Amino acid sequence: MCGIVGAIAERNVTPILVEGLKRLEYRGYDSAGLALIDVAGRLERRRRVGKVASLEQALAEQPLSGALGIAHTRWATHGVPSEANAHPHFSHDRVAVVHNGIIENHEELREFLKGEGYVFTSQTDTEVIVHLLHLRLRELGDLTLALKAAVQELHGAYGLAAICLDQPDRILAARSGSPLVVGLGLGENFLASDQLALRQVTDRFIYLEEGDIVELRRDSVQMWDVAGNPVQREVVRYHDGAEAADKGAYRHFMLKEIHEQPSVVQRTLEGRLGAQRVLVENFGPDAAALFAKVRNVQIVACGTSYHAGLVARYWIEELTGIPCQVEVASEFRYRKVAVQPDALFVTISQSGETADTLAALRSAKQMGFLSSLAICNVATSSLVRESDMTLLTLAGPEIGVASTKAFTTQLVALLLLTLAIGQVQERLEAGIEAELVEALRRLPTRLEEALAMDKVVEKVSELFAEKNHTLFLGRGTQYPVAMEGALKLKEISYIHAEAYPAGELKHGPLALVDADMPVVTVAPNNELLEKLKSNLQEVRARGGELIVFAEANSGLGNGPGTRVVSMPSIHDCLAPILYTVPLQLLSYHVAVLKGTDVDQPRNLAKSVTVE
Ligand code: F6R
Repeated sequence: MCGIVGAIAERNVTPILVEGLKRLEYRGYDSAGLALIDVAGRLERRRRVGKVASLEQALAEQPLSGALGIAHTRWATHGVPSEANAHPHFSHDRVAVVHNGIIENHEELREFLKGEGYVFTSQTDTEVIVHLLHLRLRELGDLTLALKAAVQELHGAYGLAAICLDQPDRILAARSGSPLVVGLGLGENFLASDQLALRQVTDRFIYLEEGDIVELRRDSVQMWDVAGNPVQREVVRYHDGAEAADKGAYRHFMLKEIHEQPSVVQRTLEGRLGAQRVLVENFGPDAAALFAKVRNVQIVACGTSYHAGLVARYWIEELTGIPCQVEVASEFRYRKVAVQPDALFVTISQSGETADTLAALRSAKQMGFLSSLAICNVATSSLVRESDMTLLTLAGPEIGVASTKAFTTQLVALLLLTLAIGQVQERLEAGIEAELVEALRRLPTRLEEALAMDKVVEKVSELFAEKNHTLFLGRGTQYPVAMEGALKLKEISYIHAEAYPAGELKHGPLALVDADMPVVTVAPNNELLEKLKSNLQEVRARGGELIVFAEANSGLGNGPGTRVVSMPSIHDCLAPILYTVPLQLLSYHVAVLKGTDVDQPRNLAKSVTVE
């Protein structure tokens, strides 16, 4: 989604702004721009539709140099991707604003500002902010006071930054519903929507809280909280992940992130396993007392994270006997939910900034849940800050838009949660926790073995290059794995893919099956394998081509129209984590064959901070 970078220094900030935008490219965007007060004392900007590279080209043709500037990558919400709609937006060539989020009352404000004589040059909701700021500046004469006044009139979500030709000693920024971070330098200061954008200039950060306003000068940073009181926020030193914005030897971030899974799973487990049990304390000092009270679990998430929740439902109900509901956040937040007694509200999110998941958490707080727990990959995210408890997935920054290592680490975290609740309530079958703790310790090695299948999977991917439709089948915990496999394939290769629980085949989808529709099946050795085999025969009988991921001793073999890919053996409970890997590799290789933009698939954004 949109990205913001800002800098105030003594040196020329153009290269810092451009580098920052490049580091935010992973979030998805369709235009880019920057504005600065140049050496001749003019407010100037360059904007381009498309990639940051086009903006760089524009800057090469018409260079800009100045010590105060703001920059933006825009993902269109109000108004098409165009140069006129790209940020920064100007008012009277004196004030410039960049903005992430959505201003819900932009229509009323637009009418009001037109009445005040302002002329609009874009279709964006952002343009109301810059004119409103200009208006308040005219009245109050000070940019800081003007911003404080203007944000009172904005309804909706924003992270925004502003500069003004008449007060070139400062950048103003405000946060409400869209993250912003200040980067501290020596005699220079920076701003961004994600600290990743500023890692080349600093490792010291201040995260803005909801409602904060900040004034950055070269040598000072002043902040006010939502009530307008001066406030000091903690300075955090950030060490981890500096290298994450680099693909290393890999052709794509997605491939790098798939291959990181053994190490990030290992990291997610570190310090969380005792000799024979899960260390419940990792969920927080009050977790044990709280888990003892849990009689229901409600999981809410979006996309891939939702699929992780679906796997967890099987685990929670099977291992602990506690009822568990799972719902996509965009549905949950808009319906009247019958909250079960003593229900734990669990959100799952890689970014921790997904608008629907955050909104669901906020409404859940009014609904009488026992407590809220976030399974999240970003320690500094809104979701983490607003939840009662957190278990971080330690996947490191995920740059590829298609989620991979975040999903497998979410599954690990959810299994830890299941075991923690079961342990506290003594609901686990004797010996199972120790067995699973041992299996979890061996999981990174099993994942390495799955990754070693890369060449085999790459060969299999050739079957898909000319296909337009695919079916994914699984049973039990493998059904959500099949859903995740289908989502990955459609996201990055644009091949239509659907997932079904294998038992549903004959209730409809079988009608679609023919030689042009490959059927991918995840088939670990478990009590459902025999049933799955009959489903596969149904496919073969209709001429459908089968690709089956199964253990060598599954009894399934290669034959005409059937390709069996041999999987490492694994504890059945952990099979969903392992079987996800070849499906990720499959979609990756199909996408590469089709020549799509693997890391930034069309129409998608990494962090969906609008609904
Ligand atoms: C798919 C994908 C999305 C995200 C979804 C939720 O590969 O990445 O479906 O899973 O947008 O995002 P988070 O987990 O950040 O809340």
